[in-house]
Amino acid sequence: MSALFTPLSVKDVTFRNRIGVSPMCQYSATDGVMNDWHKVHLGARASGGAGLVIAEATAVRADGRITPGCTGLWNDTQLEAAASVNRFIASQGAVPGVQIGHAGRKASAAKPWDGGAHLKDGEGGWPIVGPSNVAFDPDGTRLWKTPAQMTVADIKEMQDLFVAAAKRALAADYKLLEIHGAHGYLLHSFFTPLVNTRDDEYGDDLRNRARMMLETVDAVRAVWPENLPLSVRLSVCDWTEGGLTIEDNIQMAKWLKERGVDFVDCSGGGATPDARASIGSRTADQLKLAGQLRAEAGINTMAVGTITKAAQAEALIVEGQADMVLLARGMMQDPYWAMHAAMELGVDVKAHIPVQYGFYIK
Ligand SMILES: Cc1cc2nc3c(=O)[nH]c(=O)nc-3n(C[C@H](O)[C@H](O)[C@H](O)COP(=O)(O)O)c2cc1C
Repeated sequence: MSALFTPLSVKDVTFRNRIGVSPMCQYSATDGVMNDWHKVHLGARASGGAGLVIAEATAVRADGRITPGCTGLWNDTQLEAAASVNRFIASQGAVPGVQIGHAGRKASAAKPWDGGAHLKDGEGGWPIVGPSNVAFDPDGTRLWKTPAQMTVADIKEMQDLFVAAAKRALAADYKLLEIHGAHGYLLHSFFTPLVNTRDDEYGDDLRNRARMMLETVDAVRAVWPENLPLSVRLSVCDWTEGGLTIEDNIQMAKWLKERGVDFVDCSGGGATPDARASIGSRTADQLKLAGQLRAEAGINTMAVGTITKAAQAEALIVEGQADMVLLARGMMQDPYWAMHAAMELGVDVKAHIPVQYGFYIK
């Protein structure tokens, strides 16, 4: 019996196994609308046996996209395209999920393969916003624009946009909603003292810096049905002197749990150029922090970061570090990662893959 392949039920949703596709920007949308690329990319991983497929960071407003190629849920054209992708994911027995967010002061960037620096306003880029008017890397050699500091009215408007995107996510038949609260994007940038220099009720001490995230979660939870799981991705450590610690994030997880959040997706880094990157060889350190947060906050966790091997993923579940594992780069390289893991762990693979393929496995 494999723990990794034991189904998990949270609220009214059952995941056929504990393997999820981590959200991965594809930088391939036009005007925030998913297309055939997204359907094939996400659909292949659903038919590859994953229990959960989380669509990439999806902007609540056009200026919240990391790059001009990122997806959105701020209009109904985007909703309809996502619904078509989700019909296929669900038909393959996987749960379709989506990560909604706003990129804050890291928005308006070029695609990674075009260098990733900020795009100038009017040259593909747009004005950016943040908790404070401090650029991501004021001394950088590449262009990093200075965001406009959000007013309290801007904050309320932003929370309304998260609510509108959550309603569209529901209408598009996503069954798990994740709020992006990590990697230095808007909600994380309010929470971390590395970025937030405000002295009003949205800045200064931990509770005030958490206010933006918690109010957004409250507003979203009110429209995201009680019977469907809600996840929040946190950077559970800033990995930088003066930044958020795991203890700060355990406190945040307790606040989130009180608000009806079902999972904390435990990522890390990304707030400043000095903070360890959210993708890197040392992201493995996050895995044990997922276990610590799970034990101390008493909430389901998703563990992510350098998970590549079936035995490693199995151990994370057996040892109680996490309730689900997420893979990004491993899934990019092998859409059939879950099928191969089932084979390695001696699990009946046919239950996890399409009959068109399973029939021929003896
Ligand atoms: C191409 C790519 C795109 C990514 N896009 C997102 C994203 O949209 N949202 C997010 O929270 N993390 C994103 N990440 C981070 C991954 O979800 C994951 O946390 C990270 O890559 C570590 O997992 P891994 O070691 O399995 O790759 C991305 C990573 C990659 C490689």
